[in-house]
Amino acid sequence: MSEAERPTIAVLGGAGHEGAGLAARWAKAGFPVVIGSRDPARAAQAAEEIAGRTGGTVSGVANADAAKAGEIVVLAVPYSAQVPLADEVSPSLQGKILIDVTVPLVPPKVARVQLPEGGSAVEALQKRLGSGVRVVSAFQNVSAHQLAELDHAVDCDVLVTGDDEAARETVCRLARAIGLIAWQAGPLSNSAAAEALTSVLISINKRYKSPLGAGIRIIGVPTPE
Ligand SMILES: NC(=O)c1ccc[n+]([C@@H]2O[C@H](COP(=O)([O-])OP(=O)(O)OC[C@H]3O[C@@H](n4cnc5c(N)ncnc54)[C@H](OP(=O)(O)O)[C@@H]3O)[C@@H](O)[C@H]2O)c1
Repeated sequence: MSEAERPTIAVLGGAGHEGAGLAARWAKAGFPVVIGSRDPARAAQAAEEIAGRTGGTVSGVANADAAKAGEIVVLAVPYSAQVPLADEVSPSLQGKILIDVTVPLVPPKVARVQLPEGGSAVEALQKRLGSGVRVVSAFQNVSAHQLAELDHAVDCDVLVTGDDEAARETVCRLARAIGLIAWQAGPLSNSAAAEALTSVLISINKRYKSPLGAGIRIIGVPTPE
């Protein structure tokens, strides 16, 4: 993406593992990034740390202010906080793309697929937010450990699902901008597969002791650009 095409990305929960990893990758790739947290001081601290590591433009504020500031907003919080936080910032999401990375894990049995009744967690989120918010699901199968190692390419693919094709493609381009191979993988309902797959990857990590976390790779198709 050219400099003019790089939108400001707000990452709610961006001081956490997955959110900070994505934020650092986008900051390193030249995107302006806003970290959101329940605690603005924690957000500011995380932003300073990421800016120091990447040389990028990163600020940190309360989740509500981050949601306002982001042209694209990423939701990177535990499943139990997904809907409450989205509800809280919902007015600021109208007309925007919301990238949901949530995996509906149910502790303590996180290595077991336990999807919510009715399918994927993100479909329920889209219904709740309404069609004014273009919800796209992505990054469920990209480990935070992989993202955190900024000197290494992230060695896995990303499944991108959503009901708005243009929004899906935008998110694919954001993923490619940080070196991932991103696939348009169909409507939001298909996110159930990506959400379920995370527990499969957690099982594999436990069994085979992967240092950076297992990921997925799609084969047999030319790599999309
Ligand atoms: N970790 C991975 O490898 C990975 C990979 C793919 C997808 N995911 C998914 O990404 C999401 C975040 O995972 P994570 O590992 O980054 O989790 P995490 O570090 O435990 O939490 C992320 C952030 O969520 C915020 N948070 C926690 N409870 C909250 C609440 N009740 N209300 C509002 N915010 C709350 C916290 O931010 P503040 O305290 O700063 O507000 C925390 O830093 C999860 O849905 C996870 O399944 C994770």
